[in-house]
This record gives sequence, C-alpha cells and structure tokens, in this order.
Amino acid sequence: MSHILPGHSLVDSLQINDDTLAEIAMILKMRRDFGMSMYKDKCMKRRIAIRMRSCRCSDAAEYCNLLRQSEQELDHLKKTLTIHVSQFFRNPSMFEKLHTDILPYLFQKTDIARNNLRFYSLGCAGGEEAYSLGIILRQFYSRQLMDMPVEIYAYDIDNDILEAAARAEYNEDRLKDLPDSCRERYFVPNGKCLKLTAEIRDMVSFNQHNIMNVAALDPCQLVLCRNTLIYFTRQDQEKILRGIAHILPTGGILVLGKAETLVGDTRQLFTAVCPVERVYRRL
Ligand SMILES: C[S@@+](CC[C@H](N)C(=O)[O-])C[C@H]1O[C@@H](n2cnc3c(N)ncnc32)[C@H](O)[C@@H]1O
Repeated sequence: MSHILPGHSLVDSLQINDDTLAEIAMILKMRRDFGMSMYKDKCMKRRIAIRMRSCRCSDAAEYCNLLRQSEQELDHLKKTLTIHVSQFFRNPSMFEKLHTDILPYLFQKTDIARNNLRFYSLGCAGGEEAYSLGIILRQFYSRQLMDMPVEIYAYDIDNDILEAAARAEYNEDRLKDLPDSCRERYFVPNGKCLKLTAEIRDMVSFNQHNIMNVAALDPCQLVLCRNTLIYFTRQDQEKILRGIAHILPTGGILVLGKAETLVGDTRQLFTAVCPVERVYRRL
C-alpha cells in the first residue's frame, strides 16, 4: 500500500537518496557479490524505483527492509540493474555494414596461416547479438569459414542470462528484426518459443566476465560492445574502452551502440570507420 501525501507525486515518494543507494549497494555486495559502484548513480536509482514500484513499497526504507529479508527480491533487483534488453539484428543497418564492409575487410586482412579470427560480444545479454553475427557468417561466409575458422565469444557479468543465452530459446519480441529467411532456416518451434538450431548455437561460446577487466581477455579482431557502456560512469567507460584498445591489434574493429561514443583519451586510439553506425578501427 502506498502512502503519498497530497501534492507529492509517486515519483517524489520513490526518491532514493545517496545513503539509501549506498545501503542497497552494500546489501547486494554482501549477499550477491554484485558491485554497483561502476554504474551511473542516476541509472541505478531509476532502476531501483522500478522494483520499489513493483513491490508496492512506499519509500526507500521499506524497500531496504524487504531486500534484507527476501532472497527472491535480491535476485529480481540484480536482474533489473543489469538490464538484459536485446534482440536479433538490433539496429539492422549496423549488421548490414558488418556483412557488406567489415567482415570482408577482416577476412581479407587476417593472415590465414597464422590466425583464427576471434570475435567478441561484450555485455551479450541473451546472446542475440553474438548469434546474429553467427547467422551472417554462416549465411554469407561459409566458404571463408572453411579456410579460416571464426571463434565467437560472448561475455556478460550475469550467470543466469548466460545460461539462458546458451539455451537459445526466444520469444517473438526478440525476433522482430530477423529476416524471414533466417527464421525459417535457423529456428525451430519449441513450445511458445523459437529455438535456435545447433548449427548457430555451436558457433558461440558464453562466459562470465566483467568488462571492467576486458584487458585480461585474449586479443581479438572484432569487438561488439553495444548498449552496455551507457550504464557506466564516464571514468569507467574510459577504462573499458582502454581495455578494448588493449586487446584489439592495429586494424581491429570496435562497434559501439547508437547512443555511445569514444570518450576522453580513447579518442586518440581509434579512427571512425562509420560514425553513424559507431564503427571504429584501432590505430
Ligand atoms: C542492454 S544489454 C546489451 C545487450 C546487447 N549488447 C545489445 O546491444 O543488444 C547490457 C548487458 O550488459 C551486461 N553487463 C552489465 N554490466 C556488465 C559488466 N560489468 N560486465 C559484463 N557485462 C555487463 C548486462 O548484464 C546486460 O546483459
């Protein structure tokens, strides 16, 4: 039951001050080993307010109490904070660019004798982005794949979403930008969902990794890091982008989300290949 004084909006009543945010951060750290400090405070507060509303808590103190008592709410909150929205071929024009320009360039520039191609999806959520890349490779580059195997690694901080990604079962809403030909060729009905065939599933390997430590990953030639940086503070965005620059050799490609861009000194480490699609090449 919510207790809102006349003249106060629901939004006012759900305001989360910095002390409460720190308290929630501490509970999540202790009980789920989940660190919140890397994300923007404003973004976290907005997300916590969503949970408070769902639980019908009238103020932040009530919500903190609930969080201390409920394992289930801890899981719900962690999920809400890590925001797993994605879909197949999200921003189709970027995938078109990958298909027509970026992949031919990467196949052509890589020395077959010495290298496999290794591609990363960072902040992969349910795997839609990594699998979309797999579909393009399988559809248009199967001949090249015979000469030069491609490994796709997808990373996320959240283990539950990684397990779902590996299962590869999707509702219709995740498939709305998928061309019909792909749907028929690569998905089979599975109850109310559609399941991706093993032919594409087997191309992607999912692993837990915090992108704050991206520099610890092996070098690769292509990094898709879309719609994940936006949740980080500018300082941490810079750290992540420096880490990505560290694992990309000269000529390697980085793709960011439509609302993201290079920040600070990392602008000197890349040149824009296609500013509209947020495609950058490592200098
Ligand atoms: C909005 S989704 C982006 C999905 C996909 N890249 C896309 O553009 O459709 C953001 C993902 O980043 C993940 N994430 C958040 N913080 C992370 C971190 N520190 N390390 C790795 N992944 C993280 C979340 O769990 C979530 O699945």
